[in-house]
Amino acid sequence: MTRKFSRRAALAAPLALAALTRSSAAERTSLAEAAAARGLLFGASIGDEASQDTDYADLYRRETRIVTTDVALKFDWLRPDKDHFAFERADSIVAAARGAGKHVRGHALIWNDRTPDWLRGLSNAELARVFDEHIDNVVARYAGKLHSWDIVNEPFWPMQGETGGWRQGPWLSAFGPSYVERAFRRARAADPAVRLALNEAQCENDHDWGRSIRPLLKRLVEDLLHKGVPLDAVGFQAHLQPQWPHDFAAFADYASQFGKKGLDVYLTEFDVNDQSLPDDPAGRKDAVAAIGGAFLGQALKIDGLKALVTWQLADRYTWYREIWSHIHPNSARAPTALAFGEDLKPNPLHGAMHDALVA
Ligand code: XIL
Repeated sequence: MTRKFSRRAALAAPLALAALTRSSAAERTSLAEAAAARGLLFGASIGDEASQDTDYADLYRRETRIVTTDVALKFDWLRPDKDHFAFERADSIVAAARGAGKHVRGHALIWNDRTPDWLRGLSNAELARVFDEHIDNVVARYAGKLHSWDIVNEPFWPMQGETGGWRQGPWLSAFGPSYVERAFRRARAADPAVRLALNEAQCENDHDWGRSIRPLLKRLVEDLLHKGVPLDAVGFQAHLQPQWPHDFAAFADYASQFGKKGLDVYLTEFDVNDQSLPDDPAGRKDAVAAIGGAFLGQALKIDGLKALVTWQLADRYTWYREIWSHIHPNSARAPTALAFGEDLKPNPLHGAMHDALVA
């Protein structure tokens, strides 16, 4: 049976949720422990904030077993200019996380979005050289240190109208769709052990975007496996958008296909975008918990699921703050998207996540 999750249901959920959350925050184990009990790694993306905010660092220490580099290993952060690799931030994030006993995911080695301006003037032959050199240097630098790498991020963006639904950008221009295969093969040569992942957006929703990307991603994965390309895992970002139609059971079935092929599946950037929800902070938090809990209730059943990672760990640093403040510069409203709040205390979503993990 499939279940649609409508905005009306999200808004009506708070009352039901009070009854549904089975434990008080004080009674709950950490999310990492709850996840570990079912063989799952739980964690969050991490940036510089955790090195400057000791309370936030404590939260990572307690709640996570795996962290993903948020922006530090992205091309535009690493390569502000052609001849310089700015490894310092990534080096310190990776060293601190490993020193604290965490697994680390590298994100996003190759992505056609967010590439620096200096790439624009290059010929395809120069782009190809930059691409190869980038993968060789960056993957080799962290070889043996990472749990997994998002080798290619968001390969598809059919809304741009490109043939085959591919996301447009310098790497597609330089190689055509074979950039994906090339990236995986080179990454494997530079680090024989790290799990190599293909990370995609939108597949969790039943909006036109999710529905159009799912078959494209499935075909790509099948093609890569058929060619013997070293692909170990598929990542689903899971940035939930409550205003869109959802069929989380159908998503879980879809994602399970990859697990059944022997691939690992990760939920890589889980959070709830609360932009469409009303201002009332308490009601908004409950609605976020309701949709997040409904999602995990299905998604935790995905075959081959190995990790659940949220995008940052607390509302204090959710990336939606930046987006919201651009769209509504005069608004006092702070987005809520994550298990922990602006005050770093558990949100209702924390209860919903914990319940789903221990179910
Ligand atoms: C986000 C970062 O967290 C922000 O700081 C940045 O401004 C925009 O990108 N999907 C991804 C991530 O794969 O890399 C994005 O990260 C969030 C959406």
